[in-house]
Amino acid sequence: MSVKQKSAFQDLVDFAKWHVWTRVRPSSRARLAYELFADDHEATTEGAYINLGYWKPGCASLEEANQELADQLAEAAGISEGDEVLDVGFGLGAQDFRWLETRKPARIVGIDLTPSHVRIASERAESENVQDRLQFKEGSATDLPFGAETFDRVTSLESALHYEPRTDFFKGAFEVLKPGGVLAIGDIIPLDLREPGSDGPPKLAPQRSGSLSGGMPVENWVPRETYAKQLSEAGFVDVEVKSVRDNVMDPWLDYWLRKLQDDSFRKSVSRLFYSQVKRSLTSDSGMKGELPALDFVIASARKPGA
Ligand SMILES: C[S@@+](CC[C@H](N)C(=O)[O-])C[C@H]1O[C@@H](n2cnc3c(N)ncnc32)[C@H](O)[C@@H]1O
Repeated sequence: MSVKQKSAFQDLVDFAKWHVWTRVRPSSRARLAYELFADDHEATTEGAYINLGYWKPGCASLEEANQELADQLAEAAGISEGDEVLDVGFGLGAQDFRWLETRKPARIVGIDLTPSHVRIASERAESENVQDRLQFKEGSATDLPFGAETFDRVTSLESALHYEPRTDFFKGAFEVLKPGGVLAIGDIIPLDLREPGSDGPPKLAPQRSGSLSGGMPVENWVPRETYAKQLSEAGFVDVEVKSVRDNVMDPWLDYWLRKLQDDSFRKSVSRLFYSQVKRSLTSDSGMKGELPALDFVIASARKPGA
């Protein structure tokens, strides 16, 4: 699928929106950017995922990497037959359609801030006739519209970095989980850049406005140890936050650098999307420059009880 190229006037409007994006609060920024690029994401993500993927040795396609990351998150959450699942920040819902098949939960409810994502994922659920077991709603991770003890599992795949702040989501997830329920998150955080073994506070690279870390509220700029502590403070036990960055960051960047050389990719997306992806992946002020300071983690934590 390709994005229909826009008129010069519409391109101008989109570039203006983009400049507003770099000046608003991180949460509104994420929503504006995802809304603006919803069609581009649908056109380019192969399997309708919007994440960096987990690249096993020999993995050649983005979709395969995206599926592997989704599978690892489902495993960390322990999604099982008959479960009630809440997926927060579902994007285009790709992982939910997969989990419905592979893990057989009774129902998955998705919440996402971006209206176009809700529309695209809901249309797919209807067209695949699974709307009874898969429902997508517009809403915020930090104000979950569900009663206490509703779900067996809560998941969030590469989205919690945007929540304002992420710790409010931890508290909300704890509330809506049944006793014994599990929260599992695939997330991006800064690396602690201290020399191994050195004491003192973590050393983190500064956030970069206009790039991935610029779409993260400053309260979310915490390293692995703090992340685990925040989960415990929300009431969770059996907290595990493991880094998988070696199988995520570099192979993802290599994949996209190859894709940038492909003329059919350039023609399949909007001019704004292409120019922003190219700038970000090839300049030190973009994702290329910030990836060495970022970690990708899979976190899991259990609500005590039952
Ligand atoms: C990188 S995408 C990941 C989508 C999907 N989980 C996947 O892996 O394909 C991040 C998603 O988080 C959503 N999002 C950002 N902030 C949010 C918030 N506060 N509440 C709910 N969703 C949010 C965005 O709309 C976007 O769909």
